[in-house]
Parts: sequence; C-alpha cells; structure tokens
Amino acid sequence: MLSLSIFYHPRLFRKRGFCYVQTLQFLKKRYSEVWYLLKSLLLLTSIKQKTQMAKLRAAITGINAWAPEDVLTNQDLEKMVATTDDWIVSRTGIKERHILKGEGKGTSDMGAEAVKGLLMKTGTAADEVDLLICATTTPDMQFPATANIISHKLGIKNAFSFDMNAACSTFIYALETASKYVESGEYKKVIVVGGDKMSSITDYTDRATCVIFGDAAGAVLLEPTTENVGIMDHRFYTDGSGMVHLNQKAGGSVKPASHETVDAREHFIYQEGQPVFKFAVTNMADVSVEIMERNHLTSDDISWLVPHQANLRIIEATAKRMKLDKSKVMINIQKYGNTTNGTIPMCLHEWENQLKKGDNIVLSAFGGGFTWGAIYLKWAYDGNRK
Ligand code: UT7
Repeated sequence: MLSLSIFYHPRLFRKRGFCYVQTLQFLKKRYSEVWYLLKSLLLLTSIKQKTQMAKLRAAITGINAWAPEDVLTNQDLEKMVATTDDWIVSRTGIKERHILKGEGKGTSDMGAEAVKGLLMKTGTAADEVDLLICATTTPDMQFPATANIISHKLGIKNAFSFDMNAACSTFIYALETASKYVESGEYKKVIVVGGDKMSSITDYTDRATCVIFGDAAGAVLLEPTTENVGIMDHRFYTDGSGMVHLNQKAGGSVKPASHETVDAREHFIYQEGQPVFKFAVTNMADVSVEIMERNHLTSDDISWLVPHQANLRIIEATAKRMKLDKSKVMINIQKYGNTTNGTIPMCLHEWENQLKKGDNIVLSAFGGGFTWGAIYLKWAYDGNRK
C-alpha cells in the first residue's frame, strides 16, 4: 500500500510526467529510506518464492509386495530341528514363513514380481523409470547387481540401477538415498525394491537361526511433490563392532568359497542371538524415539509405526518406548518371519488400504553390521491405488 501511494502521488506525476526511470530516481533520492525498505521487501518476497518453488520432496506414490507360495510352518520345523511351535511363537512371534523354491530362482525373481505389480498399479510404463535401487543382502550373484537383473527382466531400459547392502536396514537406507535423487529434481520416477531370499543362506540345522527367516520382496515408487507429504526426516547409524555377532563368514573376498568353507557351513548366516537381540532392542527403540523428538511428534501424532520384523519382542519394546498403542503398529511377522529387506514394504503393502494422505509414519529398522535407523514420512495418498 505504502509503495503504491508513493508511486501514484499526483504531485509527482504532474511535475515530472509518467517517466518510470525518472520517477524511480526521484523516489530513490527523496525517499531513500522508503526505497531501501521497498527493495528489501521485494528481495525477501523473491527469496521466499524461490525457496518454496525449490522445495521438492520425495513421496511414495505406490507400493506392492510379493511372497512365494510355499509356506514353512513351525510344525514343519519341528520335524527338521529340535524345536517346538511353543518355543518359536513365545521367543519370536513367528508361526510360518514363505520360502522361494525352484531351480534357478533368486531374489531378482521376487523383486521383479513386486516391481511388475507396482508398475501396473501405478500405471507406470517401464521406460518411464529413471532409477531403480535394490536393497538386498542376498543378491542373485556377487555381480552384476540384482537391480540390473530386475530392470532387465522387466524391460526397464531408461533407468540406471544399483544394489545397496546394509543388512536388514538397507530398505530404509535405500529409500532415503532414492529420495535425494528425487529431491534433486532430475529424477521423476524412482523405484526402491527390497527383498531377500533368506532361505538361500539359512542353515536348516541351526535351530536358533533357521526359525527366524523367510523370503519375500516389496517395492515402492517415489515421485516428486511440492505438497507437504513424503519423506520428511531420517536418522541412521552404523557400528562395525557388531560384525562379530552377525555375519556370513565365507563367499566374500576375505574367505572365497572353497571345499573347506562349504564343509564348515560358512556360507550360512552366523548369528549370536542374544547380543544381537540386546543391541536391537535398545537401538531400534532409541532411534525411533529420537526421530519423534526431532520432529516434535507425540505418540498421538503418529498414525503408524512400521518396524522391521525381526522379533515380536523387539517390535513390542520399540512401540512401548514410543508410547504407541499396538493398534498403530504394523505387525505381520507371524506370517512371514524376518524377510530382511522385504519386511517394511511387505507391511506397507498389507496396510495400504488403511493409509490416509497426511498420516505420520515412522519406519524403523535394525540389522547386521550393526546398522539401524528410522525414517519419518507423511503418507501421500488415500487407500489402495489399485
Ligand atoms: O534382523 C536381523 C537381526 N536379528 C535379530 O534381530 C535376532 C535377534 N535375536 C533374537 O531374536 C533371539 O535372540 C533369538 C530368537 C535368535 C533367540 O531367542 P533367545 O530368547 O535369545 O534364546 P537364546 O539364544 O538365549 O536361547 C535360549 C535357549 C537355549 O537353551 P539353553 O542353553 O537355555 O538350554 C537355546 O539352546 O533356547 C534354546 N533354543 C531353542 N530351543 C527350542 C534356541 N533356539 C531354539 C529353538 N527351539 N528354535
């Protein structure tokens, strides 16, 4: 208002006529302070507009998951190792898990199924995908990347693709990594597929480990948005001293495969359950509370916790520390066990029809390494995208 009244001051125009440059010069001299204020205001407005325009977020705009048909129940395991359904359910919460069977079938087959369904659900053509990241600890081969194999199987030709591996935390690490590509403005359609064929590295003579794991994969589509939804924040951690408690000793560059390593069963998961449990139960809860506090979220503000499904007791401890009612926690460990990088997208897929735009969601994971972390996101759409 102030600026307009000066601009259209009648005396000014009578004296000098309507010459823009002269008028501005006159104003500059005569009203130097007002001029300075005006310039600052204009500058601030343009900075604000630019900042708002530039604020791109990455939002999940579709989710799909896939688990193989074959089921391995606790009763089946009772016939394989010295265990009982009671022990497994009370110590882990697991009743059954899905196993990928068939010669020549690997993680890429499950990942490709998940991505194929995702493309269909979201109406995305294969050649529209800009980037595909595969989160896996059980790649088809050491190389090429399983992401490349999935892209090839689905005719995704215009994307570059690569794998990430941070054990059970990889899916959330990959989601955050993918979000940075989207936020750059250069990548419009990015897929993160998480999956593991854990049965390929599980020792079915080790009763403390084989009861936990299963096979599955899930995938999300990330797209840019200027709305107040999408990936909002993350906290990730790593502690390499945990390597001694959870690892796969052979098959890597330190101990390449040999008759000896195979005889010693060193291509299977080695896990010291108790130290892993203790570390997980503390750190997954800590990081979940930390992400809430950083974002000023109370338990009332949170719609859903999506925890990595490693052990029901770890999930419950995390929810308790977050003061979250169990009804807000996605739990399907009883049906699938620990599918490593399949757990979080499998949950999101199963609960998709209950999710609403704007829901505050915390994803939280823990895994070998040790690695752990949490993501805070706002869900971007209502219900099922089918
Ligand atoms: O996502 C990757 C990260 N991994 C995890 O988060 C796994 C974390 N750890 C765990 O979930 C638990 O430690 C396990 C489920 C692996 C084991 O449960 P636990 O309550 O820690 O059992 P434990 O290892 O302390 O073993 C207790 C007892 C032992 O017998 P004794 O020594 O007390 O006589 C085990 O030999 O239970 C025995 N046991 C079993 N008994 C029946 C171990 N496994 C079994 C079994 N059935 N399957």
